[in-house]
Amino acid sequence: MRDPLALLEAAGTAAITAAFGRPFDPVVRRSQREQFGDFQINGAMAIAKEVGRPPREVAQTIVDHLSLGDAVEKVEVAGPGFVNVTLRPSWLGAAVEAAASDARLGVAVVGAPETVVVDYSSPNVAKEMHVGHLRSTVIGDALVRVLGYLGHQVVRQNHLGDWGTQFGMLIEHLVDQGLDGGGIADLNALYQEASQRFKDDESFAERARKRVVALQGGDPSTLARWDALVAESQRHFEMGYARLGVTLEPGDVRGESFYNSLLDETVAELESLGLLRMDEGALCAFPPGFTGRDGTPLPLIVRKSDGGYGYAATDLAAIRYRVRELRATRIAYVVDARQGHHFAMLFAVAQQAGWLEGVRAEHVAFGTILGPDGRPFRTREGDTVKLADLLSEAVERAAAVVADKSPELSDAEQAAVARAVGIGGVKYFDLFNDRVKDYVFDWDRMLAKEGNTAPYLQYAHARIRSMLRRAEAEGCVPAGPVVVEHPAERALVLALLGFNDAVHTTAQHLEPHRLCTYVFEVASEFTAFYESCPVLRAESDALRSSRLLVAALTARVLATGLDLLGIETPERM
Ligand code: ARG
Repeated sequence: MRDPLALLEAAGTAAITAAFGRPFDPVVRRSQREQFGDFQINGAMAIAKEVGRPPREVAQTIVDHLSLGDAVEKVEVAGPGFVNVTLRPSWLGAAVEAAASDARLGVAVVGAPETVVVDYSSPNVAKEMHVGHLRSTVIGDALVRVLGYLGHQVVRQNHLGDWGTQFGMLIEHLVDQGLDGGGIADLNALYQEASQRFKDDESFAERARKRVVALQGGDPSTLARWDALVAESQRHFEMGYARLGVTLEPGDVRGESFYNSLLDETVAELESLGLLRMDEGALCAFPPGFTGRDGTPLPLIVRKSDGGYGYAATDLAAIRYRVRELRATRIAYVVDARQGHHFAMLFAVAQQAGWLEGVRAEHVAFGTILGPDGRPFRTREGDTVKLADLLSEAVERAAAVVADKSPELSDAEQAAVARAVGIGGVKYFDLFNDRVKDYVFDWDRMLAKEGNTAPYLQYAHARIRSMLRRAEAEGCVPAGPVVVEHPAERALVLALLGFNDAVHTTAQHLEPHRLCTYVFEVASEFTAFYESCPVLRAESDALRSSRLLVAALTARVLATGLDLLGIETPERM
């Protein structure tokens, strides 16, 4: 095993089990200071309480049972019961060589692959994508990349908002305008005009309601217009996905309309299980544990009093479909945190219905993008910010950064780099914070060349690539044995060997910021290494080859890590 953290966790657990007859968590951490070794096994304090023995004695018992072979140079008990572990430089060097000769850079595939359904992006037809859908799209796409890389079977589901009563007024408005749905320049305007007329014009509203009935009844000419409208919206979404470089494809769309034919049987099943009852004319589920302030049970409305099905019914049909037909063992909903209550109730009802046996359903919640005033991000005119405009501005601003930093590139190269930096900047800024938190949209911070930003990481990568090209031109080849002598060299090597753990924890928690923290650590450690350890001018040929190998692995870890986040790494910047 070449992931030192995994190695110590396995050895620590084995030692604890042998010593205490139970597999307590060894609590392995990277040491924050050199004098505490490379890693610490911190489980002794908690185990001491459980087994009723002094912590230092427990720590010593763990040390006595540890079997780490040639991996370890020094193991010692310190402080109240920490176990400090220092790894052998030769073992670290060999581990780096193994990672460098591995196409997966030391990242193991999972032993038991799951079928993971990831519901993300999911914009609404006849509305342009806005910044809220940006978050779902960017976070969801990073997660499917990570899960797929680890060998899981990933099923992308774009739960398009393509059904509901609003389509009555939209279609009726199109009819009045003599449009069939194609070539709509401004989807938002269409939506706004239609809803304005719906409010102001009673005869229009009446026709719109009839149109809903026609749509639900499958009237061919109404369905044809609805189809055209959905197709036109999808064309807009596809353009957005292409610019963002996300992996969603038309085949991943399974919109709300898809579940229409499954609603009756879904509800019938819930009814037969006795999970539904009438409440003020509406058919509702009352999952346990959900009560209002006055203690009355809260309903999940399955069928409205007018007989129509809504968002919740569709999600019930969808979760059932995902488990039964798609065979999901894990379902991740990448949706705004403000829908947390909806998903908590949905999962509770699905649980009651027995649909989640052996299945994990998770709401991958994210916060709101705020403007500088701390309120939801809007244009100066107070409108929602359209994704397409936002991305254009990002690339434009990035072009200025690139012209300043990389004047030697050709115009075409500069344009390509500006796209990578602009789009990458927006995406990374969305990913590097804990996703449940709100964040303030800030052009300067997201495109800064220093700090935890995409441009910093992209430039760090490009600088290493350029050094490697220079080395190649001088006939120097990266090669082992890898020397791990200088503290900065050691710190970089330890960071590189943490890639496996970073990708796996990102997948476990469905938290892309963990991978961001990791790539930033690698880039920072490389910067420190490069300042104190000359590479091309190393003291000996052997040392130069070794450092080139470490640098080459660094570039690959950065490129792969950023690619898993959906961010491009230009070769030359
Ligand atoms: N279309 C919804 C919205 O824009 C998001 C759908 C999320 N997915 C789901 N299965 N409910 O808010």
